[in-house]
Formats: sequence, structure tokens, C-alpha cells
Amino acid sequence: MALWLLLLVASCFSWLPQPASGTSSLTLAANITWSSINFKTILEWQPKPVGYVYTVSIAGKKANWKKKCFQIEGTECDVTDLVQDVNDTYTAHIFSEVLPAEDEVEEPPFSISQPFTPYKQTVIGKPGLQSFQYNKDHTTLQVVIEDPSTPYKHPSGSLKNIREIFKDDLKYTLYYWRASSTGKKQESTNTNEIEIRVDKGENYCFYAQATIPSRKELRNSQESQIVCTGPGGNNFNDYGIGVFIAVGIAIVVIIVLIVALSVTLYKCRKLKTEEKAKESKPLNNV
Ligand SMILES: *[C@@H]1O[C@H](CO)[C@@H](O)[C@H](O)[C@H]1NC(C)=O
Ligand SMILES: *[C@@H]1O[C@H](CO)[C@@H](O)[C@H](O)[C@H]1NC(C)=O
Repeated sequence: MALWLLLLVASCFSWLPQPASGTSSLTLAANITWSSINFKTILEWQPKPVGYVYTVSIAGKKANWKKKCFQIEGTECDVTDLVQDVNDTYTAHIFSEVLPAEDEVEEPPFSISQPFTPYKQTVIGKPGLQSFQYNKDHTTLQVVIEDPSTPYKHPSGSLKNIREIFKDDLKYTLYYWRASSTGKKQESTNTNEIEIRVDKGENYCFYAQATIPSRKELRNSQESQIVCTGPGGNNFNDYGIGVFIAVGIAIVVIIVLIVALSVTLYKCRKLKTEEKAKESKPLNNV
């Protein structure tokens, strides 16, 4: 009988509104995405938190849990430095937590990301076009392609490029066409230099794209900018077009300065001779 009464009282109380219990206003992170390009990796999710914070924790199959972006009010986290072992497969937990933490012992609720393997899943960005050069009799064109760099550093502090990570598992394709036509051709290489045969006297346009042959998905990089060789098959050697523009601008500025200076000098001298003439006038009148 006493037990009955107790149960009745207990169930009575459970109908009363509960005091806000911390977890009631939490939302778990959803739509978690790994946004990664050239090994710079940012974790993104939704929704924007109202009245609570997120903390990211990441582990690899070969790496222990590490926290990043501790108790943030944002919805993204740069985790590049936690996913440096490019062949490891990482998973992220995103914790939702109301501050101040009511219960230090209990782990806040979290949602789990898809697994992410940088070597297989980082998007390869635009390659650079470092230089191009026709041979002497304008029958071949050699193009040198520049590897995109990554945020990862050598012990010396310089940045690693993607070639230093993918090694032989990286090839480049050059797409090229005569400037006067649209028929596109292509040529691939395992190195960063491509030589193509060209028609004498013709100008060419081209762009490059990287491929990671071992990948099943995301095999191809973004495309480089398109470059066209100049009229008459200008040979820019190791200089980019930017250098030529800069030199051109410098020449124009120098010419303008010279002209301005000589005009000023001329006017100055003319003024002085006129003043002298004025000064000498009264004397002449005497
Ligand atoms: C997740 O994305 C879907 C589709 O883009 C959207 O409808 C949904 O609201 C998102 N979830 C959150 C929690 O924002
Ligand atoms: C990553 O794995 C590929 C094969 O999938 C291998 O060729 C490469 O050497 C590995 N890289 C590192 C840094 O372990």
C-alpha cells in the first residue's frame, strides 16, 4: 500500500515540467562534410548553435582522439593538422554542449562524421603553368607544370607540394589546340614537363590537369588557367606573362617621367630667361 502511494506520488511529480536540463536546447550537428583541397581540410556542419557550443574531436585508425575547435559557436573547423597521416582514415565526433557544463563527468552528446582518407579524398586544385618555350625552329613546344602546394611543411619550414606526397602516383595531361582552331589534343606525362609537336609559325593555347591514377573517384584535378602563346610564337622562356607586363608598365612610367621632367626643365628655363629679360628692361630704357 505504501509502495502504491509512493509510485503514485512519483508519477505525479514526473508530470510536472522538468527544469531545463541542459541537453533540452541542444541540437546535434548534421550534414557534416569534409571540405578538403590540396590537403587543407576543413570540417563543416549545421546548424548554427543557439545557446550551446560545439567541440570537434578526431581520431584515425592509427591515431588517438584529439580535440580541436574547443567549445566554438561556429560551424566549421580547420582540422588540417589532425589529419597529417595522409593514408590514415579519420573520423570526427562533433559534441554539442551547453555552457557552463553541468556535469563534468558525463560526455556531452555528439554526432559522427563519415570517414575521411586524405590521400583518396582531398580534391587536387589547379596546377600552375610555370613556363613554356618553343624550340629554335618552332616545331616543338615544351611546357613546365607547377605542382599545387599543400599546407604540410618540411622540417625546414618550406611547404610540401602534392608531388612530394603522391610521388609517381601523379601524372599531368596537357590539353592544347592551335590558337586559330578548336580541335583539342592532349598529351600526358608522369613528370612535370611536357613536350608537344607543333606546326611551324602557329600559336597555341593550352591548359594542364593533374590525375591521381590510383584513385577511383576524384581522379582529376581542377583545370589550370588557359595560356596562349603570343603572336609570332613569342618565347617567354622562364618568365611569366606577368613579368612582361610589369616590364612594359615600367618602360611607360620611365618615358612619362622623362617627358614630364624635360617639360618642367624647359618651362623653368623659359621663365628664368623671361625674368632676366624683365629685370634688364628698365636698364635698357635709361
Ligand atoms: C541538412 O541538409 C538538408 C539538405 O541540404 C537540409 O534540408 C537540412 O535542414 C540540413 N540539416 C540541418 C540540421 O541544417
Ligand atoms: C599511401 O598509399 C599509397 C598506396 O595507396 C602509397 O603508394 C603511398 O606511398 C602511401 N603514402 C604514404 C605517405 O604512406
